[in-house]
Amino acid sequence: MAEIVRKLIGTSGWILMTKSIFITGAARGIGASIAQAAADKGYRVGVFDLDGEAAAETAASLPDGKAFQGSVTESADIERALDDFGAAPDAVVSNAGIVRFGPLVDMSEDDWRSVVDVNLTGSFITARAAARRMIDNGGGSIVNITSINGVAPGPNSGAYAATKAGAAMMTEQMSIEWGPAGVRVNSVAPGLIDGGMSAPIFADEEFRKLRIAKIPVRRLGLVEDVAHAVMFLVAPESSYITGQQIVVDGGVVNSIIGNLPRPAFIDGVGID
Ligand SMILES: NC(=O)c1ccc[n+]([C@@H]2O[C@H](COP(=O)([O-])OP(=O)(O)OC[C@H]3O[C@@H](n4cnc5c(N)ncnc54)[C@H](O)[C@@H]3O)[C@@H](O)[C@H]2O)c1
Repeated sequence: MAEIVRKLIGTSGWILMTKSIFITGAARGIGASIAQAAADKGYRVGVFDLDGEAAAETAASLPDGKAFQGSVTESADIERALDDFGAAPDAVVSNAGIVRFGPLVDMSEDDWRSVVDVNLTGSFITARAAARRMIDNGGGSIVNITSINGVAPGPNSGAYAATKAGAAMMTEQMSIEWGPAGVRVNSVAPGLIDGGMSAPIFADEEFRKLRIAKIPVRRLGLVEDVAHAVMFLVAPESSYITGQQIVVDGGVVNSIIGNLPRPAFIDGVGID
């Protein structure tokens, strides 16, 4: 009891309400990093993931974490988890995502549908469930994790790029529909991140160096870089920002033209 009272009453003596955040795909990678960043700021954290065991481990590593097993593609799973988590969360992060690499010309409908189902429909199901609760509660902040692949298509990105571009536009649509009810919706588009689903890509040292050389800030992104952007978007400091996408990529997307071969006769800096 004394513990609860201490939580409610800060050192100032004012009543403090613990903020809550619910994150999908939070068992590992970027989602787990967002969970840790939120916990560091004193949030109660809902860790939702298809992998229940890993979700339980991540939640147990946090001071006030709660794990939920389920799929974002199943409305009933998300509804049950949010009901179980308690009152409307202050923030919800739709982070669960999958990729199936390969040329579209060879892509099976099953692969296409599974990527659309998790990345786009799953984000819709999560945000809708969050918004219904937040609207009733007077507001909240939703963040959808997209990708630089939704800003610029990549080789063999298959359905992934289309779902991430779709999630960015869905974010804008939601922002105008839910803004009047106090619900802000933004997205964060990670670039080349040294972790999560991209970890195997950067395991090769040689290949890693080649990629870093093409990134304007000359380093790979960290999962924490993405988490910091998310924490800004759920904080009151961003209360006038909605419907926006923050690209966390060290300048990669903006360097597309700069990475094209350029003849030296134009300005003396290209190839002779
Ligand atoms: N890592 C990167 O380089 C990178 C770059 C751009 C965007 N992203 C995006 O960031 C998000 C997180 O990716 P990550 O790199 O941490 O990947 P990850 O594979 O490490 O983690 C994704 C998590 O989502 C969970 N998940 C998958 N399908 C699910 C479902 N149907 N329901 C619930 N949970 C499910 C997985 O179990 C896993 O724990 C994704 O949306 C991804 O597209 C990642």
